[in-house]
Amino acid sequence: MKILVTGGAGYIGSACTEYLLNLGYDVTVFDSLMTGHRAAVDKRAEFVKGDLNCRDAIFDVIKKGKFDGIMHFAAFSLVGESMTNPGKYFSNNLGAGINLLDAAKEAKVKKFVFSSTCAVYGEPEHVPIGENEKTKPVSPYGESKLMFEKALEWYHRIHGMEFVALRYFNASGATGAFGEDHNPETHLIPLVLRVALGKLKNIKIFGDDYTTPDGTCIRDYIHILDLAQAHELALKKGKCGFFNLGTGSGYSVKQIIEMSRNVTGHSIPEEIIPRRPGDPPKLVARSAHAASELGWKPKHENIKDIISSAWEWIEKHPEGYGDN
Ligand code: UFG
Repeated sequence: MKILVTGGAGYIGSACTEYLLNLGYDVTVFDSLMTGHRAAVDKRAEFVKGDLNCRDAIFDVIKKGKFDGIMHFAAFSLVGESMTNPGKYFSNNLGAGINLLDAAKEAKVKKFVFSSTCAVYGEPEHVPIGENEKTKPVSPYGESKLMFEKALEWYHRIHGMEFVALRYFNASGATGAFGEDHNPETHLIPLVLRVALGKLKNIKIFGDDYTTPDGTCIRDYIHILDLAQAHELALKKGKCGFFNLGTGSGYSVKQIIEMSRNVTGHSIPEEIIPRRPGDPPKLVARSAHAASELGWKPKHENIKDIISSAWEWIEKHPEGYGDN
């Protein structure tokens, strides 16, 4: 099967590209390299540098490519930035994404797999969070992803395009070859590991006065290889709809730091600072739907293994991909 991966030079897109290639898929990566890295694109994939805002470019690639499916990762993903510059998120994550959807419809691509997020739930009333939880995003980032999900539903109803929207919880870990390199980095695990490497003085904990056992926020960390597995399963004919992807286990910020001390053998100094606006106290997934409908079985759920894989990658790539 021939698959187009948009955002295949990014963190999750690069891991999925490698996963698909290992299974024998033919993969083309389409990425603007605005936030992605050329070195993160598996050498076995065909690479096209391009921007989804350029309607002609994406129509051209899809028309020529004769793809069986599309995996759409290309998006901006900084929640904080979306609160100060919402237009950037609506125009790229929704507007540019529609160019891709239209091109896919025009070329009669059978399957569209979308990289969505638990941010569509905002501050949920029920935890663990099932897919039937109300979607009430609290940031333009989450809203832009939800709007694109709605567009997918309409394209399905009107044009019959099969779609799978995968709502990830906290993507983490690394494959042997590919890992996390954002600029700026805002995510907890890579920042904690940069402290262990000696690149940062300490890890700032955003608030220890939440209603959780140790006062710090709880998240559901899911390995990118398990996300990749779900994407591949989503390609199967007849799979359609919305699916949460998480392990169902939650770890607090303090637990992640302690486990990282254990994995790295470094002391990792910490400092408590005020809460980061918009952080819900606890986000943990219920992923039973992905298990029953997609046949998804995460294989890398152990938090120690997740952090170890990230640490191995960061030790080998202290400057990330070296192009920031
Ligand atoms: N945190 C710190 N210090 C840091 C960084 C993070 O204490 O330096 C805390 C956060 O407050 C949060 C937890 O660590 O409680 C995890 O934070 P991340 O930034 O790593 O991840 P988020 O849970 O905020 O964000 C993730 C995804 C987003 C997605 C969001 C949905 O990275 O793309 O979940 O809630 F939108």
